[in-house]
Amino acid sequence: MTANPPLADADLVGRLRDDLTATGFTVGGVTDLLGPMAAAALDREQALPARRATADSTDPRAVLVRLFTLGDPVDAAEVATALPSLGVDGAVALGLVAPEGDALVALCDLRPYAADGRDRWVASDLGELALGRPLEPDHVLGIGGASATLAAWTPRPHVERALDLGTGCGVQALHLEDHADEVVVTDLSERALGYARFNALLDGAEWDVRAGSMLAPVAGERFGLVVSNPPFVITPRSGAVPLFEYRDGGASGDDVVRDLVRSVGEHLEPGGIAQLLGNWEVPRGAHWRSRVEEWLEGTGLDAWVVQREVQDPAEYAETWSRDGGHHPGTADFNAMYAAWLDDFAARDVESIGFGVITLQRPRTDRAPFRDLVEVGWPVATPMGPTVLAGLDARTWLAEHDDDALLDVAWRCAADVDVETHRTPGEEDALLVLLRQGGGLRRQLTLSTVTAALVSVCDGELTARQAAAAIGGLLGADDAAVRTEVTRFLRDAVKDGLLVETR
Ligand SMILES: C[S@@+](CC[C@H](N)C(=O)[O-])C[C@H]1O[C@@H](n2cnc3c(N)ncnc32)[C@H](O)[C@@H]1O
Repeated sequence: MTANPPLADADLVGRLRDDLTATGFTVGGVTDLLGPMAAAALDREQALPARRATADSTDPRAVLVRLFTLGDPVDAAEVATALPSLGVDGAVALGLVAPEGDALVALCDLRPYAADGRDRWVASDLGELALGRPLEPDHVLGIGGASATLAAWTPRPHVERALDLGTGCGVQALHLEDHADEVVVTDLSERALGYARFNALLDGAEWDVRAGSMLAPVAGERFGLVVSNPPFVITPRSGAVPLFEYRDGGASGDDVVRDLVRSVGEHLEPGGIAQLLGNWEVPRGAHWRSRVEEWLEGTGLDAWVVQREVQDPAEYAETWSRDGGHHPGTADFNAMYAAWLDDFAARDVESIGFGVITLQRPRTDRAPFRDLVEVGWPVATPMGPTVLAGLDARTWLAEHDDDALLDVAWRCAADVDVETHRTPGEEDALLVLLRQGGGLRRQLTLSTVTAALVSVCDGELTARQAAAAIGGLLGADDAAVRTEVTRFLRDAVKDGLLVETR
């Protein structure tokens, strides 16, 4: 049975915050205490090195790690020393711990989180590592890989109103707080909302917390930014797979993400942005872009979709059969594996894509832009500033024709360089690349024309003047050079390899 989320009591939570601050129970403080090896092992869900590093230590940080991260029973006197202002009674009253013999055990996970230059803390349900058993269906997730991906990719303009849909413990909302005047969080799970209320209080924040499914709690309302790490996991409805609230939105296939893409636009202000993570099924013989383009049809929204990973049905089944604490080779695991294979086979699914969907409501009645790309390599982190600049650049490109593009004096961005591959001793280059150091870390292959163009992109010559000079130098047809230049510019400008001189 899962415990109730901790109580959002302002006085007791304030004392807890004071204690956590005073003990240095921060990301840096805990990493220093554990050392890099144990800290890295914990990130891989391996407790042993952290247990050894903290076992004999009376450092308050070690006490808190044993209690709230490893899930070990801890002597009540040690807890009293680690939380002097809250005290054991306060920790019990909040529902953070419960007595077990002479010791105390944690009823939730509580860990430091460093976000936006501030030390923060996040409570969630105890994970498999601390529980030592598979998770319950109403489990409330802590900060996982997908949470971190979304937080890193979110563009962060200042907005009046922001929505975190499917907030869980509230991790995305913590980030929104710094650039939104008002933060609304929703979830179907009352337990998740309990954690969100507690975590908001612990962070000194005020969120408008609402219960309900998907966009129902915000019917008729609009936001400048909507973020969602929705329950996007494609889950067989056969009964063989547990329906974890944190990952299953209650629909078949990838319908949860499709429906969200189709309906979120109604909740965006003009110029408003929605960003969500998702999975999409790719039927045999089809292309993922067609699938996602079908979702976008008729929405009127700009869309920039970055596919980050592709799995075949077996890989997907293995990932999600293991999630939640089930082990390969067990009967439970095999039954789930088979259910996923059957489910995908029933819809003739060949592969499953995962990626980041960024949508924008255009401010004018222009045609929306669509950019669906595959980026399977490591990118800069955080990506949010790149996404915001990329939306601006794509919007500019959508609002300007090729003539306007040629009339700008473009400049190579500061993080861009040219890499030339040559056979030793040969003068002619085999391959010339324009490489981006930050952002999406793109590499564009340059032709003779575009290599000449970037060599003069210093913000002085307009692209039109550069194209005319290059055409003259190469003895090439002017119109053909301009066409090649504009095609290249559209690709390089959208991702910030070339920027406008202001
Ligand atoms: C993958 S978790 C994301 C949690 C958190 N936002 C994060 O980024 O880590 C998905 C969340 O969606 C919630 N959820 C599940 N079904 C939902 C529904 N139909 N409507 C709204 N939220 C739902 C779950 O309770 C869970 O908190």
